[in-house]
Amino acid sequence: MNSNSEEIPQWIYDDLFRHLSADFDYKKGNVLSSTCTSPHQLAIKLFQTFIDRNLGDPSLFPGAKEIEHRAIRVLGDLLHLPEQGTGFFLTGGSESNITALWAARNKFKKEKGHEALHDAEILAPASVHLSVDKAADLMGITLKKIPVDTNYRMDIKALEQEISEKTVAIVAVAGTTLLGSVDPIAEIGRLAQEHDIWLHVDAALGGLILPFYKAVGRQEILFDFKIDGVSSLTVDPHKFGRIPIPAGVLLYRDRSLLKNVEFYLPYLGEQARYQHTLTGTRTGASAIAFYGLWKHLGFQGYVHIVQAVLENTQFLAENFERLHFRLKLSPPPMNIIGVNAPPQYKVENIYKALWKNRWAVSLVNDVLRVVIMPATKRKHLETFLSVLQTILRNQN
Ligand SMILES: Cc1ncc(COP(=O)(O)O)c(C=O)c1O
Repeated sequence: MNSNSEEIPQWIYDDLFRHLSADFDYKKGNVLSSTCTSPHQLAIKLFQTFIDRNLGDPSLFPGAKEIEHRAIRVLGDLLHLPEQGTGFFLTGGSESNITALWAARNKFKKEKGHEALHDAEILAPASVHLSVDKAADLMGITLKKIPVDTNYRMDIKALEQEISEKTVAIVAVAGTTLLGSVDPIAEIGRLAQEHDIWLHVDAALGGLILPFYKAVGRQEILFDFKIDGVSSLTVDPHKFGRIPIPAGVLLYRDRSLLKNVEFYLPYLGEQARYQHTLTGTRTGASAIAFYGLWKHLGFQGYVHIVQAVLENTQFLAENFERLHFRLKLSPPPMNIIGVNAPPQYKVENIYKALWKNRWAVSLVNDVLRVVIMPATKRKHLETFLSVLQTILRNQN
């Protein structure tokens, strides 16, 4: 049944739907494995309306470029980016992390010479996202993983021991993929400054959650440009910002850092000849959708979203404990819960049974991982818990 749009011919819709009906629908609230969620309706409308805007060619789209600039300023104000800072809307956290490390690598090369790249190293916590492994692999640079402490945060002493002349960049995470832990970024920033090393903060997930902690009555966590040693930061509006995919943002503390990744394209209009991004063509629709949604929701609107999600996370964490699951981090630092199953159960069996009941969760080693995003409401979690209880009963 073509219920979505009268403009799509029925036969095309039917053909597509045969395949697409297999997909999960965020709105059903049963996606607990992803840091993406259903975009806000206004963001979808804005995205659709301005879908042809190409930020790769600001001479054709100066208006879209101006909106990107304003959207970066909104995020910059939220994340304490200095006036001389800048940034770009990219495709997501992976591209942002890769681009930041590319810029850091080129700065290192400029300062220390090409030879120094041979034994160069990037330092990052063991909990870092795979995109940093990809960046190191692409650039042929060794990625040294620093152990994490009992709270799954980068061990500062171990980091200090590894810093050397070979260090191209340090990556710290504000909201790890597995457990949502936040590295001790203020201390890491001090080390980065002391040794004059590029510090990149991957706040793909935490960047649109942590700035609202004070407003929801939680203790403020330092992680952004308020910390002097931070050179660049990733934040993903297509995760907690409720913007359609693709929407990742990379912020630089100072626009002079762009020189490290500057390329000249003579065939484009005057406004567009210098490029600082991996891709040439970039959608402007993401920046427009983010800017419009921010105007609509404002700071307070995001506070409500964060508050509801954190309350739901707490609700689920308490219920996991009631069912004798052990929380890896108690309380969960953000919207992600990692648990060990009670000893009498096999966690793989619980995981498989949940998927069989169409509850998407993750299993990493022996940790069952659940992500609470805005599309998942309390009523969904109540259903999840009743399914989980039935599974536990049947496994005993
Ligand atoms: C901490 C972190 N960084 C980066 C990424 C990569 O983001 P993307 O999938 O948008 O490329 C993720 C994805 O979940 C993430 O959790």
